[in-house]
Amino acid sequence: MRTTIAPSLLAADAGDLAAAVEMCQAAGADWFHFDVMDGAFVPNISFGPHVAQALRPRIEGTLDVHLMTAEPAAWIAPFRDAGADVLTVHAEADVHLHRTLAAIREAGMKAGVAVNPLTPLTHVEEALPHADLILVMTVEPGYGGQRWIETSDDRIARVAALRQAHQPSALIQVDGGVDETTAVRAVKAGADVLVAGSSVFKGTDPGERFSGLQRLATDTEAD
Ligand code: DX5
Ligand code: ZN
Repeated sequence: MRTTIAPSLLAADAGDLAAAVEMCQAAGADWFHFDVMDGAFVPNISFGPHVAQALRPRIEGTLDVHLMTAEPAAWIAPFRDAGADVLTVHAEADVHLHRTLAAIREAGMKAGVAVNPLTPLTHVEEALPHADLILVMTVEPGYGGQRWIETSDDRIARVAALRQAHQPSALIQVDGGVDETTAVRAVKAGADVLVAGSSVFKGTDPGERFSGLQRLATDTEAD
């Protein structure tokens, strides 16, 4: 399967998100990662359903919403209405994960489960039969521009093994500190979708940076 690079709009110019989408799309991006932070589950606030809805018509491919909120279930209907394709909730934020994942699917979206860097992978093992995507955080959530946690490669590989055993069709997404070096490591460990924020948007040409990461990932896969 071709690795997907999902530009994270958190790192884009917040005053011109539509331009960020267009630049990446022109370079072939077909997934956009949309980070929702509520100031409670994580110590930061980003954007909500209103902004997602405004961007939806600009995005031709997948609108991938990563909820970093204390009450994930409360946001299912608003993000369904905003046009999200994938809705990912944190295992640490929800004591009724089975119900929440079922409700996300019922609402017509793909259901994702995110785990923080030190959350035991038994959560992933239990959630896999009920999920379409597992998001492995490779930094603590809350901010862009952090460094990849060095033990992440092994963790992704262990999630890939669990996926094979419990839900082979689920996607493995990696989020945090993905750059030219760690992208290769993530693909080798078994990731399918790489979220890339600052490594795409920190320069003057996000399209070119996106293409560079996409090429690297595809070449690594072919090795
Ligand atoms: C962090 C977010 C990430 C963030 C990644 O809490 O979930 O999606 O945008 O940013 P980079 O790629 O800069 O680490
Ligand atoms: Zn994210």
